[in-house]
Amino acid sequence: MGHQDIQLKSDDQIRLMRKAGLIVADIHAAIRKAVRPGVTTKDMDNVALSVLDAAGAKSNFFGYYDYPGQICVSVNEVIVHGIPGERVLEPGDLVSFDCGAVRDGWHGDAAFSVVLPGGDPEVRKRRERLSSLTEESMWRGIAQMALGSRVGDIGRAIDDFVVGLPGEQLGIVEEYVGHGIGTAMHMEPDVPNFRTRSRGAKFKAGMVLCVEPMLTAGSQENVTLEDDWTVVTLDGSDACHWEHEVAIHSKGIWVLTAPDGGTAGLAPYGVVPVPLD
Ligand code: MF3
Ligand code: CO
Repeated sequence: MGHQDIQLKSDDQIRLMRKAGLIVADIHAAIRKAVRPGVTTKDMDNVALSVLDAAGAKSNFFGYYDYPGQICVSVNEVIVHGIPGERVLEPGDLVSFDCGAVRDGWHGDAAFSVVLPGGDPEVRKRRERLSSLTEESMWRGIAQMALGSRVGDIGRAIDDFVVGLPGEQLGIVEEYVGHGIGTAMHMEPDVPNFRTRSRGAKFKAGMVLCVEPMLTAGSQENVTLEDDWTVVTLDGSDACHWEHEVAIHSKGIWVLTAPDGGTAGLAPYGVVPVPLD
């Protein structure tokens, strides 16, 4: 598939995508409030469903290749696509929540991670560090959509940051990558989180991309469990996932799934997002 297959949106279409993005942000906020040791991952799925219902929106995950949840909840060594169920969250767990919404045919998709209070302070400190580094790698990748010139600049920035961390040996998951998004959840182009030989498509007004690094505290090698969804690290090390959906429009970039449009996350890189509303 070539670069001509990338769906380009008008500023007005990006304004509609913002509405879906803000529903995803609302799901994140509701989960942040509700999550604590003792709740099940299914409880968090229900929190997402009630926000979607109230917004008159639907989950774009549910039914996708028969996926059974509203959201994905990935705990500790689970990298992505954890299915909500009876698992009870424990003190010190590192939990990644990947959530999506479709509204008037436009898709939103974003993920965040939290470390629950309690548990072994050493373990919790390591997990908090993994989460903050994963989030930072995401913002560095997103910043390239303003500072760089091609899709490959995103993965290069993430890769350079992660590989350059002194005293860390983190893995970058390679089998799962970011993606274009619009009238479907997964569209052209792929957005790898690592250096690639091809520099990728040129950034262009109208592109909307999901930037979603997945980092591991050990090897990036992974396997999918019997349920055909849950992806875990092969060595059992912790994994973390962060994701935002970002538009390039006529006047700049705009993080559609961040309530502040990305202002705070991008400030360290001298990038000022431009909201269209
Ligand atoms: N939202 C995920 C992504 O970031 C994909 C979820 S797969 C699903 O691309 F089956 F759960 F929908
Ligand atoms: Co995504």
